[in-house]
Amino acid sequence: MTAPVALPRPVRVRAHGKINLHLGVGDRHDDGYHALATVFQAVSLPEEVTATAAPGFSIAVSGTADPGSVPLDDRNLAMRAARLLASATGYEGGVHLEVHKSVPVAGGMGGGSADAAAALLACDAVWRTDLPYARLHELAARLGADVPFALQGGIAVGTGRGDVLTPALARGRFDWVLVLSEEGMSTPAVYARLDRHRDEEGLLADDPSPSLDVPPALLQALLSGEPRLLAAELHNDLQVAALRERPDLQTVIDEGLAAGALRGIVSGSGPTVAFLCASPGEAALVRDRLAGGGREALHVHGPVPGARILA
Ligand code: C5P
Repeated sequence: MTAPVALPRPVRVRAHGKINLHLGVGDRHDDGYHALATVFQAVSLPEEVTATAAPGFSIAVSGTADPGSVPLDDRNLAMRAARLLASATGYEGGVHLEVHKSVPVAGGMGGGSADAAAALLACDAVWRTDLPYARLHELAARLGADVPFALQGGIAVGTGRGDVLTPALARGRFDWVLVLSEEGMSTPAVYARLDRHRDEEGLLADDPSPSLDVPPALLQALLSGEPRLLAAELHNDLQVAALRERPDLQTVIDEGLAAGALRGIVSGSGPTVAFLCASPGEAALVRDRLAGGGREALHVHGPVPGARILA
C-alpha cells in the first residue's frame, strides 16, 4: 500500500471542556485508576487545534487560559495524541499543532483531554490516515480516561475508568456559571486525597464494595430539561477531597448560591466550581454578581458537540 500523502493545507478542529454532572468514584485498581460511574456534559468552552503537516513534531499554545503553564514537549497530551496516531497508522511524517485554549488549565474541566481528542481528529484528517471512529475512540482511551468523551461530546454516561461511554439524552440546554481559580489542581493528588479520606473514615472497608451506579433520577432530570430537577441530582465524590485541599472553594460555592445559582459543585477534580442556573438570564445575573465580587466567572451552556472539523 502506498503511504497516504498529507493535505497541503491546515485542518482546524474544535472540541469542548466538560462538567461531570455525577462523579461516583469506586475502588482503586492496581494500575492506579479508580472505577467510575460518571455523567459528562460537554459545555461551550472551546479548545481549537490546527494541524499542519510537517517533517517533525512541534506545538504552540495560545489562548486566554494561562497557556504559559502548558508543557510544549511530549508531556503535552495533544502532542502525545499526534505521536500515538502516527505510530498506530505507520504514518512517517510529522505535524505542527497550534492549540488555542479557553478551558482553564488544570481546572477539572478536561481541557487537556479536549486538546488530545481534537489533535487526534485533526492529524487523522491532515495525514489522510482516515481511521474509523471506533479506532479513534480506542486511541483516545489510551491517552486518558476523559479523552473518549471529548471526542464524542454531548452528554454521556461513563463507566470503567470513565472511558466506556453510553450517550444519554437530554432536552434543551443547561446554563452554567463557572468560577475559575488562579491555581490549578493535580488530578492524581485529588484522587489520592479521596483515598486517604476514605481510609481515615473507614469507608474503604466494604466487602463487597458498594455498587457504582448513575442515579436514574439524574437521567430523568436530563430528559425533563428542567434545571431545578437536575440541580437536585448533581453529585461529585471528589468534592470532599478537593475541599480538603482547597477549603476556600466552599466560600466560592456559598457566594454562587447567594448570587442566585440553583446549585454549585466542584467540577471533576477541581478547582473550577460549576453553578447550574435556572435560565440563560439568571446565569448572566449570577456571572455579573460573582464578577462584581472579584471572581473570574464565565457563563457557558451545554450540551455541545464533540470534536468536529471546522470548515
Ligand atoms: O486518564 P487521566 O490522565 O485523565 O487521569 C489522570 C489521573 O487521574 C490518573 O493518573 C489517576 O491518578 C486519576 N484517575 C483515577 N481514576 C480514573 C481517572 C483518573 O484515579 N478513573
